[in-house]
Amino acid sequence: MAPYLHYTALALLVILASSPPSDHVVAAPSHHRPVGMKSLHFSFFQHETINKTGYIIVNGVPGKGVVSQTTTPFGTIFAFQDPMTVTANRSSKLVGIAEGTSITSSLDGLRSISIAKITLDLKGHKGSISVVGGTHNIKPSDHPVVGGTGDFMFVQGTVTSSPVELEGLTVVYKIEFHLYWPPYAMKT
Ligand SMILES: *[C@@H]1O[C@H](CO)[C@@H](O)[C@H](O)[C@H]1NC(C)=O
Ligand SMILES: *[C@@H]1O[C@H](CO)[C@@H](O)[C@H](O)[C@H]1NC(C)=O
Repeated sequence: MAPYLHYTALALLVILASSPPSDHVVAAPSHHRPVGMKSLHFSFFQHETINKTGYIIVNGVPGKGVVSQTTTPFGTIFAFQDPMTVTANRSSKLVGIAEGTSITSSLDGLRSISIAKITLDLKGHKGSISVVGGTHNIKPSDHPVVGGTGDFMFVQGTVTSSPVELEGLTVVYKIEFHLYWPPYAMKT
C-alpha cells in the first residue's frame, strides 16, 4: 500500500511540475512559490515573557535533561498567549497574538511539539492560522500550517520560528509566514 501511494504521489508531482501556470492566478513573486498557487510571505516577531505571557503548567520528568534558560525537562507542558509585533521591538505595532501549548518531546530538553493558533489583524488579511509541529529551542523550526479561518481559510504552507533573543525574561522569536492557497481556494 505504502509504496503504491508513494509512486502515485511522485507521478502527480511530475504532472504538476510540467503543467504551465494558469492565466488567472494572482501570485506574489517568490523563490518558494510552487507553480499556479497564490502565495503570501511576511514575518513578525513574537514576544514571550516567562510567568507573564507563558507559563509551565505541568513539570516534566525530573532528572531528564539539564534545566537551563533553553531547556525544559522531558514532558513539560507549557502554555502561552504571546503578542506579535512588526519589529523585534516590543513597542512596535501589535499585529496579532499567538496562543498555544508546547510539550517537551526530546530527552535532552531541547525540542518540543507545539500547537498554536496565530490570530492576525492585518490590512486586508484578518483571521487565524493554525500550526502544529516540532520546535527546536535554539534553532529555526518549520511548522506545517494545518489550516486557517477568515481571510486565511484553506491556507497551507509553513510558519518558521527562529530565536532572536533568548536572554532575559522575555524571549523574542522571528516568525516567518510562507503561505500558499491551493487553486480551488482562489476567489474568481
Ligand atoms: C515562574 O514562576 C514559577 C512558579 O511560581 C517559579 O518557580 C519560577 O522561578 C518563575 N520563573 C521566573 C523566571 O520568574
Ligand atoms: C523601541 O521603540 C520605542 C518606541 O518607538 C523606542 O522609544 C525605543 O528606543 C525602541 N527600543 C529599541 C531598543 O530600539
